[in-house]
Amino acid sequence: MVKLAMKATAKAPSNIAFIKYWGKENERLRIPSNSSISMNLSDLYTVTTVEFDPKLKADKININGSKRVSDHLSLVRKLAKLKLYATVKTENNFPSGAGIASSASGFAALSLAATRAAGLELTERGLSILARLGSGSACRSIPDGFVEWHKGSRSDNSYAYSLYPDDYWDIADVVAIVTNKHKQVTSSDGHSLAKSSPFFKKRQKILGQKNKDLKMALKKRDFTHFGEIIESEALEMHAIALTSKPPVLYWNGATVELMGEVLDWRNGGLEAYFTIDAGANLHVICQGKDANLINNKLRRNKNMLKVIVNKPAEGARIIEK
Ligand code: DP6
Repeated sequence: MVKLAMKATAKAPSNIAFIKYWGKENERLRIPSNSSISMNLSDLYTVTTVEFDPKLKADKININGSKRVSDHLSLVRKLAKLKLYATVKTENNFPSGAGIASSASGFAALSLAATRAAGLELTERGLSILARLGSGSACRSIPDGFVEWHKGSRSDNSYAYSLYPDDYWDIADVVAIVTNKHKQVTSSDGHSLAKSSPFFKKRQKILGQKNKDLKMALKKRDFTHFGEIIESEALEMHAIALTSKPPVLYWNGATVELMGEVLDWRNGGLEAYFTIDAGANLHVICQGKDANLINNKLRRNKNMLKVIVNKPAEGARIIEK
């Protein structure tokens, strides 16, 4: 145990999943139905400051969803055997309501800042487990670079670890923001509905091999094979969402138009692949050398609100503020 710091600030990246987490074995503990693989994003991140304060009668939180944040702080209080409330200040470097999920970077930054402020120094694994309890995908924003979330079977063995550091491979995620609206079905609700798809079981059967194939493509830095796997994986996750009962449709017209554009670029020799999380925005995965070209092409699209170019990034860190 280190000395009680009372105040700490952490920065954590958002991440894009290449093999998606979609469906949970245990909803409360956020144990996923399958392992997933992701990359941390350099230009989409959250900075969070947590300060425990004996004068407070309740947690003071500057963002929406404060109940979930306060519940998470209570987990930290329990771990640290601490009775104090805290002030939480959270800022995303991207506009809120841009349709970019902030729960991954948010709960990763909160977990690190809150534990340090409470005087705890968790291992990377312990921190990843804690972040997972806030939001599943947040556990992948703790380790560096390219990350696998090992599904596990219990809370203490379901956590993420780094497969490769951020400088392992020069690829980019060019995010095309095409909506300002909050999604109608939260990812938590989408997860619960996943099992109602007639294709969910089939997906679980083929995911083990897909996970191995993706890791092999990563190991060889084989961009073509890698891209083919991640694009079909995104479509598969959305096929589950679309065939859930009731159906969950995250795309809008602009999403579909852009998917077509990426296919056209590829036919024309520009190698890029798309992936989509639980929202309408498109992530174009390309080699680093093509990121500017793709950025410029996307910006010309009439539906484009914003384009954000991301490189692979390190995981959550304590920063000075
Ligand atoms: C589509 O991590 O947001 O982005 O655990 O309920 O908070 P909760 O879900 P969340 O789900 C993310 C789903 C996804 C795919 C992925 O990131 O793997």
